[in-house]
Amino acid sequence: MTGTDPSQSSVVILSCSLNPKSQSHKLALAAQACLRVREVSVALVDLAEHDLPLCDGVGSVDHPSVKTLAGIIDAAGAILVSSPVYNYDLNAAAKNLMELTGASWTDKPVGFLCAAGGRASYMSPIGFANSLMFDFRCLIIPRFVYCTQDDFTEAGEPGSEIRARVDQLAATAVDLSRALAWVRANGDSDPPR
Ligand SMILES: Cc1cc2nc3c(=O)[nH]c(=O)nc-3n(C[C@H](O)[C@H](O)[C@H](O)COP(=O)(O)O)c2cc1C
Repeated sequence: MTGTDPSQSSVVILSCSLNPKSQSHKLALAAQACLRVREVSVALVDLAEHDLPLCDGVGSVDHPSVKTLAGIIDAAGAILVSSPVYNYDLNAAAKNLMELTGASWTDKPVGFLCAAGGRASYMSPIGFANSLMFDFRCLIIPRFVYCTQDDFTEAGEPGSEIRARVDQLAATAVDLSRALAWVRANGDSDPPR
């Protein structure tokens, strides 16, 4: 079986909140832990630690931080976006990252982990997902992790139900990444049984 070596799978988690007390960042850490348990190579990018320019459509893509992040995303088999919900959408930092590095997302599976103030905004990742599908032909994982304060423990950690959903999402991202890698490596061959 060629092209399906599990050690070749890798996931990048893009943690997009700039809030030092971010809840979505805790979802990103939970996803990282799940992937490590599964022995999947994982890179966690915390946008709060990167001095990214705002996309101007001209020179911003040449910024060294943009090149670094584009390289990390390029190397990943799947992407998990962990983001706050702002104004019934993901936050502007997430959109800016997509504008700066979008070409690096091309044809990759993408999943979402969102922290929100209330339950009513649960469809908020859809606009961002549409952009990724139309612009970069990303494969959107149709299972979001969406949580509010009620889903966190008194200690401020994701509760057990959310952890289980994070694990499901992480597992799906890895499965899709491996399946795509196999198809790309093996073309018309029959898939492994
Ligand atoms: C500018 C702004 C806009 C927000 N808009 C929404 C919203 O539309 N829907 C919602 O449920 N929560 C909204 N919230 C609440 C955040 O989603 C919530 O605080 C969440 O925990 C932020 O994620 P973070 O902790 O990872 O930064 C908003 C918060 C801010 C600061």
